[in-house]
Amino acid sequence: MRSVAPQRFRQVIGRFPTGVTVVTAMSADGPVGMTANAVTSLSLEPLLLLVCFDNGSRTLPLVRGSGRFGVNVLARGQEDLARRFAGKLPEAEKFDGVPYSLDDGVPVIEGAHAWLGCDLTELLPGGDHTIGIGAVVAAELGVGEPLVWYSGSYSALR
Ligand SMILES: Cc1cc2nc3c(=O)[nH]c(=O)nc-3n(C[C@H](O)[C@H](O)[C@H](O)COP(=O)(O)O)c2cc1C
Repeated sequence: MRSVAPQRFRQVIGRFPTGVTVVTAMSADGPVGMTANAVTSLSLEPLLLLVCFDNGSRTLPLVRGSGRFGVNVLARGQEDLARRFAGKLPEAEKFDGVPYSLDDGVPVIEGAHAWLGCDLTELLPGGDHTIGIGAVVAAELGVGEPLVWYSGSYSALR
């Protein structure tokens, strides 16, 4: 029986280019967020989107608690934000100095390429991750060009 090492899986699936998002929520202590690329449109009728949360992510319980989350599609030039929200700064500090507004109850990062607001409808187990399904309640276009994640690095479309 063939088996695939986790590192190999990461290397090969890394050949699938994705955008880069910051999944946000409003907690009792303010805005929170984490960088995520395991984000997929799921259904058109009804409108559903899914996000895969690492079970160790601190954002996951806060999304569960708020029942609502935002998906901020980052623009080229927002790599610093991608790195910041991929790190483990205390949650309360992640948004320090990051301009955002609250729209439909979710933090929207200024300068995002696009954003969606979702009501959390389901959390399903997926190995060491949890699949969060959201009903899309807001969808807006922003500015600029997308930031791309490919083969373990940030890049741009051209
Ligand atoms: C490009 C990129 C994509 C990522 N995608 C995901 C993802 O889809 N789901 C996830 O749980 N973590 C993902 N991560 C890792 C999280 O951003 C990281 O674990 C972060 O520290 C989580 O923050 P939190 O503990 O404050 O929630 C990604 C990191 C990078 C750099």
